[in-house]
Amino acid sequence: MNLARLSTGIIGFDEILNGGFISKRAYLVRGGPGCGKTILGLHFLSAGISNSEPSLYISLGEPVEQIKTNGAMLGFDTKAITFLDLSPSADFFTEVQTYDIFSPAEVEREPTTQRIIESVESLKPKRVLIDSMTQFRYLCTDDFQFRKQVLSFIRFLLNADATVVFTSESSAEAPDDDLQFISDGVIHLHNSLEGRNISITKFRGSDFIAGLHSLRVTSQGIKVAPKLQTKLLKQEFILENISSGIPELDELLHGGIERGTVTILTGPTGVGKTTLGLQFMKEAAGRGERSVIYTFEEGEETLVARSQAVNIPIHAMITNGNLSVVRVEPLHLTHDEFANQVRHEVEENKTRIVMIDSVAGYRLAMSGADLASHLHALCKYLQNMGATVILVNETENITGDFRATELGISYIADNIIFLRYLEIYGEMQKAIGVLKKRLSNFEKTLREIEITRYGIKLGKPLVNLRKILSGTPEWVEKNDNTK
Ligand SMILES: Nc1ncnc2c1ncn2[C@@H]1O[C@H](COP(=O)(O)OP(=O)(O)OP(=O)(O)O)[C@@H](O)[C@H]1O
Ligand SMILES: [Mg+2]
Repeated sequence: MNLARLSTGIIGFDEILNGGFISKRAYLVRGGPGCGKTILGLHFLSAGISNSEPSLYISLGEPVEQIKTNGAMLGFDTKAITFLDLSPSADFFTEVQTYDIFSPAEVEREPTTQRIIESVESLKPKRVLIDSMTQFRYLCTDDFQFRKQVLSFIRFLLNADATVVFTSESSAEAPDDDLQFISDGVIHLHNSLEGRNISITKFRGSDFIAGLHSLRVTSQGIKVAPKLQTKLLKQEFILENISSGIPELDELLHGGIERGTVTILTGPTGVGKTTLGLQFMKEAAGRGERSVIYTFEEGEETLVARSQAVNIPIHAMITNGNLSVVRVEPLHLTHDEFANQVRHEVEENKTRIVMIDSVAGYRLAMSGADLASHLHALCKYLQNMGATVILVNETENITGDFRATELGISYIADNIIFLRYLEIYGEMQKAIGVLKKRLSNFEKTLREIEITRYGIKLGKPLVNLRKILSGTPEWVEKNDNTK
């Protein structure tokens, strides 16, 4: 049986909830001050309004005028939402002497309850937000009373066919375990120096994506980027070789690189890694396939100008929709958010080749968190989707001792192609070689590589070269293979 779902009004949040809230149930949204409870509630009610469902906001703390003003700044159209303002008015302060005989809780509860009943009976809301339930605690004389009151309040709303979201100001000093037990689902909002997160610990009658997901409050409200799920997503694809379009390079790779694999292009600065990656994209564009480059260091303009100059028609590729160049600013995104951008490219735009230029830039951009495990998860996802991944890796050494990467990510790669400078007879030249290829054999010799205005050119295998992984290889004997 499929239970009817209600959108929360936040795309990523719906995804974590496997499609949204189950209708006619009650959900707790809890978190510290300023973590986004009210905004999340406004999304929920607005989604109801755009679905022509009467929606009711019961405010017990924040004055309604303020909620409307703040909501309008975030782009919410609050006009269609019905507000019930039960926040304490200024009169409360001046009339406080009326509480001589009865306790404040007893005096306040009766009219509060009455106004809620009246609103619900006249509006018949499909969605109700109670912000925050914590205030209710002070209208009850003890915990037992509170629990009983809340339960019967929620039952009353559910009987009226509403789906309920209620917030709670949680803290270590004032635990809200009772509310967590009562609710059909518990959503936690976290706000820390590292950023905002959302997580779910309980969702009766449904699966959900566990763990912490990135949350951001923007000028358009809340955006949620679900954690990348590698297991669930899978797409059938044909394991085939994709050609570089350069016969000598394909020979070096024994046919090209396979679809759905991860290739690391490694080498020192300026040796031609990005251009080489683009060469595969140029060839893919010829087949009508789409690629995307996430550039972390280089601006789009220089990339375009540079590529045009070496016969890669990047301008036309972009215009035809076969290529997208996305510049990612440092410290701008979390891993989850970046992974969601990539997902969008692959799932909506049908992108087949994804290049990250460079891994070090990616690491800097997503500060703090563990690079290898996030990159691994992203690559696994892309492989499952049949996308080909190119990771550009910059090595520090120009010549000398050889290391595939300095970032401990070699294990992620199916293929490692390296580019390097060689000093041959006192001249600086560039060479290309393959270090690893999981799905096929490959040429074990280096080839000379040159980037000219006609494009990338590779020479014949440098068969007489010894000590090729050192900076100063030696010729066994001089012959015509050198050119
Ligand atoms: N335009 C905006 N851009 C970025 N962040 C914003 C914007 N407007 C609000 N915020 C953030 O949202 C927070 C307020 O969210 P909200 O009112 O939903 O929190 P809350 O959990 O309901 O807080 P409280 O416990 O005080 O009721 C602000 O503290 C601020 O950090
Ligand atoms: Mg609030």
